[in-house]
Amino acid sequence: MRIICVDNYDQMSKKAANIVASQLILKPDSVLGLATGATPLGMYKQLIKTYEEGHIDFEEVTTFNLDEYCDLNKEDEQSYYYYMYENFFKHININIKNLNIPNGRAMDIHKESLEYERKIRKSGGIDLQVLGIGRNGHIGFNEPDIKFEALTHMVKLDEQTIEDNSRFFDSIKDVPTKAISMGIKTIMHAKKIILLASGKEKAEVIYGAIYGKITPELPASVLQLHPDVVFVMDKEAASKLDLEKLKEEYL
Ligand code: GLP
Repeated sequence: MRIICVDNYDQMSKKAANIVASQLILKPDSVLGLATGATPLGMYKQLIKTYEEGHIDFEEVTTFNLDEYCDLNKEDEQSYYYYMYENFFKHININIKNLNIPNGRAMDIHKESLEYERKIRKSGGIDLQVLGIGRNGHIGFNEPDIKFEALTHMVKLDEQTIEDNSRFFDSIKDVPTKAISMGIKTIMHAKKIILLASGKEKAEVIYGAIYGKITPELPASVLQLHPDVVFVMDKEAASKLDLEKLKEEYL
């Protein structure tokens, strides 16, 4: 595990975008795993800028998103499809055929999940997976207690997640209670992972993910077992870590 701690959100976003950009420079046909939420927005902005400046190209890139709410249409402003299109895809030269977001409106979510896993495998597997982290330690929508061996599947969202994500909806009643998400096992199969975290409300869970027991009660703690994972954080998210000690242990 590597830890990169920077001063603020802007620097975190630039650092994360540089890691993704390096991946694309080294392997132009990379398979990227992508995340939603407020945290990666700055990274997407920065990647768009790097693309506009001509430093990176998305023509051969394939993407797989982590998750999608059940029961929202693609056109719904709260869907992750809409988020990805508005905040990233429409600004870059990615081939629409190469974008993959699980379909939360599929009639048969189990079949959709198996098909999503098959597509990931057929693409050669995820080269670089971007993650955020929920306040309860979820990654993707893998809530506390979802088994580490889970592949893509339907999840029931935690009360805390529903409350946290209600900031994007008109009312908490509008937040879907179910989603389809890559499982922990799908995420752990990625060749490289970067997890982004910003703000003091993530400090506690970041501490647990890095120093705590590896347990499905804190899903992100499983990342301690991944051979190539980088946490990119700002000072506030890292405020409960002993950075001097970390320098010795991880860097
Ligand atoms: C959602 C997403 C996660 C994301 C989390 C944190 O629940 N499914 O992938 O990491 O929110 O979001 P934020 O970055 O807004 O704190």
